[in-house]
Amino acid sequence: MKAPWEKVAEDGELAPGQVKRITPGGRRLLLCNADGKLYAVDEMCSHEDYSLFLGCIQEGKIKCSLHGSYFDLETGQPTVEPASEPICTYPLRVSDGEVWVNPDQPGSN
Ligand code: FES
Repeated sequence: MKAPWEKVAEDGELAPGQVKRITPGGRRLLLCNADGKLYAVDEMCSHEDYSLFLGCIQEGKIKCSLHGSYFDLETGQPTVEPASEPICTYPLRVSDGEVWVNPDQPGSN
């Protein structure tokens, strides 16, 4: 069966530091541009049910604007408390100028 990749953006749509809400497969995710590299991660913080959409991106991490935890965009792991659980990261690929995400293969390393 074909994996459910979904197109979520055009390549180049996000500038470095920008975040976009995406909903592939009905999941609430964020597409993040960290220094020109794209990542797809859970929208909601693992500490409390709060959106990371308003958080800023710094050095490959996204900051939760409620209590200040940082999450590594590559692994989903929290690097600053109070969050102790990771957020999920999702496979992403860029093909023919389009950004695709597979919401059915979440992972956190
Ligand atoms: S809700 Fe994100 S760190 Fe508390």
